[in-house]
Amino acid sequence: MMNDELILAIETSCDETSAAVVRNGRHVLSNIVSSQVESHKRFGGVVPEIASRHHVEQITIIVEEALNEADVSFADLDAVAVTEGPGLVGALLIGVHAAKAIAFAYDLPLIGVHHIAGHIYANQLIMESFHFPAIALVVSGGHTELVFLKEHGAFEVIGETRDDAVGEAYDKVARTIGLPYPGGPHIDRLAAEGEPTISLPRAWLEPDSYDFSFSGLKSAVINTVHNYKQRNEQLPINDLAASFQASVIDVLVQKTKRAASEYGVKQIVLAGGVAANKGLRTALKDSFAEWNVEVSIPPLHLCTDNAAMIGAAASLKLRTKQFSGYDLNGNPAIDLEQW
Ligand code: KG4
Ligand code: ZN
Repeated sequence: MMNDELILAIETSCDETSAAVVRNGRHVLSNIVSSQVESHKRFGGVVPEIASRHHVEQITIIVEEALNEADVSFADLDAVAVTEGPGLVGALLIGVHAAKAIAFAYDLPLIGVHHIAGHIYANQLIMESFHFPAIALVVSGGHTELVFLKEHGAFEVIGETRDDAVGEAYDKVARTIGLPYPGGPHIDRLAAEGEPTISLPRAWLEPDSYDFSFSGLKSAVINTVHNYKQRNEQLPINDLAASFQASVIDVLVQKTKRAASEYGVKQIVLAGGVAANKGLRTALKDSFAEWNVEVSIPPLHLCTDNAAMIGAAASLKLRTKQFSGYDLNGNPAIDLEQW
């Protein structure tokens, strides 16, 4: 029986300041998330400078809160983990410096974690164990990727977006139809009340490609909005949201199914902020209902950015002693396969 491992994890890659304490890579003892979304709303997106300033103000408070809620002290910890990248460099740096200071002060191993590895490992917080081989469908504000996992930590990116990330497309479409930032949840809600009656494109790309493209779809939605305006007609906003969402989900689900079949996987794991999308969650579950493949979908609070997912991924590196040095830096362009 192994001793309990306690990891303090920190996530500051974008607009949430988060700290968590995770036991044995699976049990969340605390997961404090402080969102700055109200400060960015009026700009229609995340302003990097504002994000950094909020992180500076929040980080020590949030770390303290995470320890308090977990009822542990720095001395109880086995490691401190932090998102190294990708993300906004100024935002990443706040978390990295906080983690380094804690590691130095308490003589703890320091573990840099890839943000997307974190999103994928959020699934470890809700199940006994992964069933390999697996495919992760990663859908967030900055990423849209199909990742093949032969085993723990062996990430192979088999497809990615060639232009906009799916969350980015959601947010831009939402902005065009006058919805507040972040627009994903609003479109999701409107889509449930509409019908996909408006014909919109689906970018399948080459028949054997697992890549994605959402900029054509985004432009088609923007053109549709302009056409309605020009004709002075009321925009069927629910139907437009439903049609956009149907197009996105259709492509995501079909490509995931093809990958699952080609790679003979035992499990599909959904990851990233857009995994909170109700339409996508239902479609993915339904489409694998007849297959002998498990579908793992984290609850909403573990889909959007949070530090517990970083702690889950870090436990892998703690076990294999893949530690970072004090030269750890925020790295916006870090590669998932080399994580
Ligand atoms: O993973 P995340 O929290 O941050 C990044 O790492 O990017 O993802 C944020 C993205 C935003 O684009 C937001 O609009 C989208 O996730 N999102 C959604 C939903 N909830 C959040 N998109 C569609 N439907 C949702 N329910
Ligand atoms: Zn994220």
